Amino acid sequence: MILRDYSVEVHSMEEKFNPASYPYDFLIVGFPKYYEYPVLYALDYLEHNLKKRGHVIPTLAYCTQAGHSLTDFSGLERLLRKKNHRLITSKSFPYANNLLIFSMFGLTTPEVLKENKWILKS
Ligand SMILES: Cc1cc2nc3c(=O)[nH]c(=O)nc-3n(C[C@H](O)[C@H](O)[C@H](O)COP(=O)(O)O)c2cc1C
Repeated sequence: MILRDYSVEVHSMEEKFNPASYPYDFLIVGFPKYYEYPVLYALDYLEHNLKKRGHVIPTLAYCTQAGHSLTDFSGLERLLRKKNHRLITSKSFPYANNLLIFSMFGLTTPEVLKENKWILKS
C-alpha cells in the first residue's frame, strides 16, 4: 500500500488525547517495554480510548526496550482486533538503558543511541 497526500499527527497518552472522537485511516502506537511486555498503562489506554471502527485500520506498533529479546505483541494484536484495527507490523527497539535500570544490559553507547534516533525518525 502506498500512501500519498496524507498528514500525520503526533499525540501522547499523557496529554489525555482521545482517539475515539478522531477520524484516521492508519495508526502507529509506541510504548516502552516493562517486565517483558508492553507497559500496562499503554494497553489500558488503548482498551479504554480506541473506538471500534467501521472499516479496518492498519496499525503499526513499536516498543522501546533495554534488552534485545523481541517483545510479545500478541495481547496488543487481540486488543486491536476487537476494535477493528489490524496489527500489520511491529518492531522492538533496544533503545535506551540510560538509567542503568538493569545493570546486565549496560549503558547504551552513544553510537547505538544515535543510530536508534535515526531509525525512529525515518
Ligand atoms: C520498571 C521497568 C521495567 C522494565 N522492564 C524491561 C524489560 O523487561 N525488558 C527490557 O528490555 N527493558 C525493560 N525496561 C527498560 C525500558 O523498556 C526502557 O527504559 C524504555 O524503553 C526507554 O524508554 P523511555 O525513556 O520512554 O522510558 C524496563 C524499565 C522499567 C523502568
